[in-house]
Amino acid sequence: MRFPLTRENDPTKIDEPKAIKMLHYAIDSGINLLDNAWPYHRETSEKFVGKALKGGYRKKVYLSTKLPVWLIKSREDPRKYFNTQLKRLQTDTFDLYLLHALRKTSWKTVKEFDVLAFLDEVKAAGKIRFAGFSFHDELPLFKEVVDAYKWAFCLIHLNYVDDDFQAGIKGLEYAHKKGLAVMIMEPLRGGKLANKVPDGVVNLISQTGRVQTPAEFALRWLYNRAEVSCVLSGMSTLEQVKANIRFASKEHMGTLTPEESAIYEKVKKFYRTRTAVNCTQCGYCMPCAQGIPISFIFELFNDAHMYDALENSRWMYSVFIKSGNRADKCIACRECEEKCPQKILIAETLEKAHALLAES
Ligand SMILES: NC(=O)c1ccc[n+]([C@@H]2O[C@H](COP(=O)([O-])OP(=O)(O)OC[C@H]3O[C@@H](n4cnc5c(N)ncnc54)[C@H](OP(=O)(O)O)[C@@H]3O)[C@@H](O)[C@H]2O)c1
Repeated sequence: MRFPLTRENDPTKIDEPKAIKMLHYAIDSGINLLDNAWPYHRETSEKFVGKALKGGYRKKVYLSTKLPVWLIKSREDPRKYFNTQLKRLQTDTFDLYLLHALRKTSWKTVKEFDVLAFLDEVKAAGKIRFAGFSFHDELPLFKEVVDAYKWAFCLIHLNYVDDDFQAGIKGLEYAHKKGLAVMIMEPLRGGKLANKVPDGVVNLISQTGRVQTPAEFALRWLYNRAEVSCVLSGMSTLEQVKANIRFASKEHMGTLTPEESAIYEKVKKFYRTRTAVNCTQCGYCMPCAQGIPISFIFELFNDAHMYDALENSRWMYSVFIKSGNRADKCIACRECEEKCPQKILIAETLEKAHALLAES
């Protein structure tokens, strides 16, 4: 989902030579699971990865992708998407296959079109090895979904700031107790916990007495927990791949001291009081029919709060976004809100962001 691009803000333009180098380096260094999904890079990611895994790389990894449940309109649709995905990824089987982004509406679709029976069928036919789901809703629904099928695993949003968000820690513990392997997405809040980290956070992290980057600090909190089976790390440069492999190669489970845990709590408080909108730049909301660069506007909105950088955010807003694509052009069609994994009230938040950023 986070491959490097040849053209900024155009996810279809994967920088293939760079991305292939990253993938091959990762696999040659022992990374053995690749996550993917139908909509990533506006539907170009699966095809690219299929190409990149030629030359013997496919059999060295657990290949994972996800059924776009929100697109299902009939009982035949799951098979149609599944077969297209097999072709795109140039494979006969998926090691892991997930129902993507389950929430109230998509869970209804799963029941309506008997998608769980479809999972049984492809499992019995040997076309998938492990069935799972990714989740973006509240804890009670998470428990219901966990209990509804013989899942091998699930994928939840978790990091030290969002520990009670959606499934959260309670969901992690619940699924683990029920025998599911738990994979984690957005461990760095989409990069927000690793890049452009405010000085106040850097100072707190230094109080741990460990020499570590903010990315390591965030990943360590997850690696420390026995219930976490796998941390999916989105990486957009080879340096990030190298750094994360180096870090993951150390022993982490059960090593956090009570003093360190207290520091995570302080950093969490710092972020929570300064985050204006919980956007992780995943891009699921795009494209917007009005051409509004939603996640970029939310980034400027957050930066204004996080770094006391209001003037700079206002300047970027006026220079980099054409007047016809600014937040006040939102018509509140709410198509993006349906797709947002964070369930952000995008229309209202755009209005607030415009009120702040358009002032001079
Ligand atoms: N986000 C979702 O809603 C979602 C949903 C379903 C599945 N997933 C899957 O879960 C994966 C993980 O989620 P995520 O991509 O949001 O993960 P993440 O780790 O929270 O964010 C990835 C971003 O973190 C930054 N980063 C990674 N390693 C770094 C390092 N060592 N130093 C500095 N910065 C670093 C990069 O940001 P820069 O690019 O800014 O450098 C990278 O693009 C996704 O790639 C996708 O496969 C995500």
